[in-house]
Formats: sequence, structure tokens, C-alpha cells
Amino acid sequence: GLKKKEVNVLCLGLDNSGKTTIINQLKPSNAQTQDIVPTIGFSIEKFKTSSLSFTVFDMSGQGRYRNLWEHYYKEGQAIIFVIDSGDKLRMVVAKEELDTLLNHPDIKHRRIPILFFANKMDLREALSSVKVSQLLCLENIKDKPWHICASDAVKGEGLQEGVDWLQDQIK
Ligand code: GTP
Ligand code: MG
Repeated sequence: GLKKKEVNVLCLGLDNSGKTTIINQLKPSNAQTQDIVPTIGFSIEKFKTSSLSFTVFDMSGQGRYRNLWEHYYKEGQAIIFVIDSGDKLRMVVAKEELDTLLNHPDIKHRRIPILFFANKMDLREALSSVKVSQLLCLENIKDKPWHICASDAVKGEGLQEGVDWLQDQIK
């Protein structure tokens, strides 16, 4: 058959935002795991869409591991950035990490697509994707294609829309 184009994706965002849960949902059901634990360092995962074969660097979001992210920026051809929409207290920390990412020399001048998941939309206290987008000042990102989707990674809702967008940016 036709060989799918290979794409490296970096999955970034604060600890507990739902990165590993999202990636797990995107994998074929026979490769999914039931028990998701906080990521130590990072983990390499794979999933496919109709035209692409993604290799995901699922990074730990814990403070002590965030300095690992930048070592993979050069290899990344797309970014999935996950936000816990219910974590209002740490929205400012998420914004700081995003701004640091956007200003990094290996990212700053590249037209790398960024898919944002405003995750945990099922929580009663969750902010809307519009509100998350405002708090992170996403409209200031002018030199990269970006898109934000509300998602519930536990139920798998909102993920397909995001991945379809990402695939369109790359193929
Ligand atoms: P680190 O690996 O520590 O960076 O965390 P992570 O971003 O990979 O988060 P992880 O996928 O481990 O999820 C953290 C917790 O949030 C788990 O208990 C998940 O079940 C839960 N979770 C993930 N997505 C959702 C969601 O959409 N809604 C709700 N209610 N819980 C979620
Ligand atoms: Mg994780």
C-alpha cells in the first residue's frame, strides 16, 4: 500500500492537563492503555490518520521536566498544546510556558502549526475555548497557523476535529 507521510509532533502543556489521555485516545484501540499515570520525562507514541503517520513526543508537564521540551523543538513538525480548562489558577503558568515556547529560537521563526486543546470541557468549572484563547492571547500568534478545540479526552470528544485540522495543515 501507499506509505503515509511521517510527521513528528510535540505534545506540550502543564502536568495534569490531559496530554497522555489525548494521545492514548488517538491510538488504535488495541494499543490503548487503561491506566494512565503522570509521564516521567517523555514517552514516544505513534498514531495514524488517513494520510499521515504521527510520531508523538508526549512530554511530561511537571515543572522539573519542562526543561526537556526544548531539546525536541528542532525535530517537531507540529505542536499539540494542551490546557486544563478547569485549572483557572494555573492559566497564567500555561501562558508563561506557551510564551517561552513561542519565543524559543528553534520555534520563533518557523511556520509550525499549533493545535490547542482546551481540555476537560466536561468539568462544571471549565472555561470555554474562547475564554482560554483570550487568556492565552492566541490572537497574537500571527506567524503560525493555530487552532483551538474544546475537548473531553476521557470520552474522546473534540479530538477528531483537532486532528483533522492538523492533518490539513501538513499534507
Ligand atoms: P503529565 O504527564 O504529568 O504532564 O500529565 P498529562 O498532561 O499527560 O495528563 P494525563 O493525561 O496524565 O491526565 C491527568 C488526569 O486528568 C488524569 O486523571 C486524566 O484522567 C484526567 N483527564 C484527562 N483529560 C480529561 C478530561 O477531558 N476531563 C476530565 N474530567 N479529566 C481528564
Ligand atoms: Mg502525561
